Amino acid sequence: MKIRKVEFFRSIYSVDDLPRPLEHEFVFSGRSNVGKSSLLNKLFGVKLAKTSSKPGKTRSINFYRVNNRYFFVDLPGYGYAKVSKEERRRWAKLIEGYFDRRPNISMCFILMDMRHPPNENDLKMLEWVKYYGFDFTIVLTKVDKLKMGERIKMRKVFKDVLSKYGEYYTVEFSAMTGEGLSDLLDILGMVTGDKS
Ligand code: GTP
Ligand code: MG
Repeated sequence: MKIRKVEFFRSIYSVDDLPRPLEHEFVFSGRSNVGKSSLLNKLFGVKLAKTSSKPGKTRSINFYRVNNRYFFVDLPGYGYAKVSKEERRRWAKLIEGYFDRRPNISMCFILMDMRHPPNENDLKMLEWVKYYGFDFTIVLTKVDKLKMGERIKMRKVFKDVLSKYGEYYTVEFSAMTGEGLSDLLDILGMVTGDKS
């Protein structure tokens, strides 16, 4: 798929404000600071999504409209230790409400930092996505920070932990070098049928 046009569409803090669905909806989810907004910016070719070295930057669900036909959705990150219980509850309610109301989600991209094995929160997110029956792709991020030997080791760690969740693609990605970008676009093309 080729990304020809991208617009910031809307930020929502409540599922009452969800926009009417488009042809496809793609979700980008993962731990706080894993690189969701950076990945979207790399895909878009412009810095539309706010990124920060401080975790917890994205608090709202952010909708971007791509090629006038698709929503790309930047979810707030989970698992940031310094967030209050109240905030965590708000997050869970927002995401659950969102999944509940979006049976049209075509693919969830679940991002995990390739330097660290999946943690409890990552697995919870996977269970959630499976429960809702969404297809998912695992994106291993920040691969520029690993030497090849570490990569080979971590590939196996992820495979061992995640294989019980069924069939999925894995993409090794770096927002810094652009590695994995064409794989992501291929997957998006496969799902949408837009092979341009
Ligand atoms: P929240 O909005 O807090 O959930 O974070 P996020 O998942 O959107 O992460 P974000 O894209 O803001 O990136 C967090 C930090 O990681 C920033 O300092 C980025 O520059 C850095 N980062 C993101 N992707 C990469 C990558 O591929 N390589 C390297 N080296 N750094 C990255
Ligand atoms: Mg973000």
